[in-house]
Amino acid sequence: MNNLDAVQAHIQKIITHYLPPRDNHYPELDDAMRYALLNGGKRLRPALVYFTGNIVGATRDMLDPIACSVEMVHCFSLVHDDLPAMDNSDLRRGQLSCHKKFGEDVAILAGDNLLSLAMEVLSDQKNAPISAKIRLALIHMLCKATGSEGMVGGQIMDIKSNIHYNQRILKKLHSLKTGALIKASMMMGASCSPSPLSTEELVRFNKIGDALGLLYQVCDDILDVNADKNILGKTAGTDHALGKYTYVDALGIKEAQKYANQLRHSVKEMLTPIARRDQIESIIEYIYTRTIT
Ligand code: IPE
Ligand code: IPE
Ligand code: MG
Ligand code: MG
Ligand code: MG
Repeated sequence: MNNLDAVQAHIQKIITHYLPPRDNHYPELDDAMRYALLNGGKRLRPALVYFTGNIVGATRDMLDPIACSVEMVHCFSLVHDDLPAMDNSDLRRGQLSCHKKFGEDVAILAGDNLLSLAMEVLSDQKNAPISAKIRLALIHMLCKATGSEGMVGGQIMDIKSNIHYNQRILKKLHSLKTGALIKASMMMGASCSPSPLSTEELVRFNKIGDALGLLYQVCDDILDVNADKNILGKTAGTDHALGKYTYVDALGIKEAQKYANQLRHSVKEMLTPIARRDQIESIIEYIYTRTIT
C-alpha cells in the first residue's frame, strides 16, 4: 500500500468486511453506516496508518484493522459533526450528509455504532496477528484520540468557540479536534513495528503527528473560505456562518496560507531523518496543495 489511490481502493474494498451481518429488523442502520463509510472519503488517516507502518516494517495484515477502525471513528465524527445540533451541514463528500439522507435519529445511531464497531474491530484477535500487549496499547490510543482529550474535546471547544479565543486556544482546539486522530493514525501504524522503537523515534513520530494534524485543520479552515463547494464536497463558508473562530479569523487568509506553508516545511524537515519518508511527504503535499488550487 504505497500511494493514496491504492489506499482508497483498498479501504473501499475491505472496510465493509468488518461490518456485522445486515439485520432485517433494522436495515436502515446498516444502510446509513455503509453510506457514511463508503461515500468517497479521502482516506488520509488510513494512508497515514499504512505509510507509517511501512516505515517501521509492519505487515499489511496488522495494519488493515487499524486503518479501518481509525476510518470508522473518523466517519462517525463526520456524521455527528454534520447534524443540525452541531454544524448543520447538508452536504458531505459531494452528497447529502447522513442525516439528510436517513434522518437524524438513524444518523445518530449509525454514528454511535461506527464508534463501537471501531473498538470491536481493533480488539478482536481474529482480525490481525498482533500481541495482546500491543492490541491493548492500540485500543488505548484510539480511545484517547477520540474522547475529551482528543476529537470530542476539540469538538466541544469548537462549538463554544468565539472571538475571545486567542491563538494558543485555537491551536489547542485544532490539535484536539483534528490533530489527535491524525497523530493517532501515525502512532498506531508505528506501534506495529516488529522491533520496539527508540524513544527518539517515538518522540519524532509524535512531533510529526502533531504538526501534520495542525497543518490539516489550518488547511481545512482556509478551504472553508476559499474553495468552491464542488471541489470541497461540503458546504463552504459554514465556519463563518456559524460564528466559528478559525485560523482565517485569527490571521487573515494570506497569513493563514503562509502559516500553512510554514507548517508544511517544518513537518518535511522533521521527516528528514527518516529513510522511507516519501509516502508521508506525498500526503503532506496533497493536503497543502488542496488549499492553493
Ligand atoms: C474532514 O476530514 C474533517 C476534518 C477533520 C477537517 P477529511 O477532509 O479527512 O474528510 P474526508 O474523510 O476526506 O471526507
Ligand atoms: C470537524 O471539523 C472535525 C471533526 C472532528 C468531525 P469541521 O467541522 O471543520 O469539519 P468539516 O469542515 O465539516 O469537514
Ligand atoms: Mg465542526
Ligand atoms: Mg463541520
Ligand atoms: Mg471545516
